[in-house]
Amino acid sequence: MARKKKGEGQTALVTGASMGIGVDLAECFAKDGYDVILEARSEARLRDVAERLAKQHGIRATAIAADLAVPGGGQTLADEIAAKGLAVDVLVNNAGYGSAGAFAGSDRAVQLGMIDLNDRALVELTHIYWPRMLGMKRGGVLNVASTAAFQPGPLMAIYYASKAFVLSFSEALWKEAESTGVHVSCLCPGPTTSNFRERAGTGRTRLSRAGAPMSSARVARMGYRAFQRNRRVVVTGARNVVLAKLAPFLPRRTLLGVVHNLQSPA
Ligand SMILES: NC(=O)c1ccc[n+]([C@@H]2O[C@H](COP(=O)([O-])OP(=O)(O)OC[C@H]3O[C@@H](n4cnc5c(N)ncnc54)[C@H](OP(=O)(O)O)[C@@H]3O)[C@@H](O)[C@H]2O)c1
Repeated sequence: MARKKKGEGQTALVTGASMGIGVDLAECFAKDGYDVILEARSEARLRDVAERLAKQHGIRATAIAADLAVPGGGQTLADEIAAKGLAVDVLVNNAGYGSAGAFAGSDRAVQLGMIDLNDRALVELTHIYWPRMLGMKRGGVLNVASTAAFQPGPLMAIYYASKAFVLSFSEALWKEAESTGVHVSCLCPGPTTSNFRERAGTGRTRLSRAGAPMSSARVARMGYRAFQRNRRVVVTGARNVVLAKLAPFLPRRTLLGVVHNLQSPA
């Protein structure tokens, strides 16, 4: 008799699953037998990913196009999921974007939209699905933050702050869920191959020249494994781990200077 897969009978909702890290995270869950609900704005891309995952892994994959940056976007998505008769056991809050440059002269809608997507929608979806997870004593939340979460980010201020919020919120929830059977993990990738850099406009910074980005598949596998083990925080890559651990011990003024330098044009 075939061994039961870890995720059989459970469903993972992955936001931002039309490309990049989200696709690879969805693949990790699908491979382990989870049904998946894939969310992003690009419907055609989502459908392609859903078809591929369903075929390759013999799971149910449902694509739902939605814009999570609009107020109430999380509730609209949850309503659509419920209308399809689906439940969510694991929530992967991955959708997000960044925007490089000085705060002065930046586009206000872009800055506020970043908070709406990276933080508000993440909280909204977590708030919707959290009670059921606690009630079932299983499943959980995998939040995608960034190494940006560990310090303020001059020349990318709102993105860094939005990810600091994700890290702080995730760690607090991890503690609240301790001993309940519900897992909470915060994945903090450093530079990763995806469409992120293009949208964020970070391609010309000193940081972007500081080393090769990690593959999104590798980042996703690290996040997935951490979630299964209920690891509170996972930082990808040895250099990033060292920098994240070092940040709290550096004088704040020095740290701000270092990040300002890294975020400056090369
Ligand atoms: N790549 C990096 O270097 C890096 C490093 C650290 C952290 N991260 C984080 O990793 C996460 C995934 O990013 P990525 O690198 O995979 O970037 P990506 O390739 O740009 O993917 C972002 C995903 O989010 C979706 N998305 C964007 N705006 C959305 C909206 N308003 N509503 C719903 N979905 C939306 C995108 O799909 P649509 O455009 O179709 O909506 C896409 O599926 C983000 O939270 C990012 O901050 C990335």
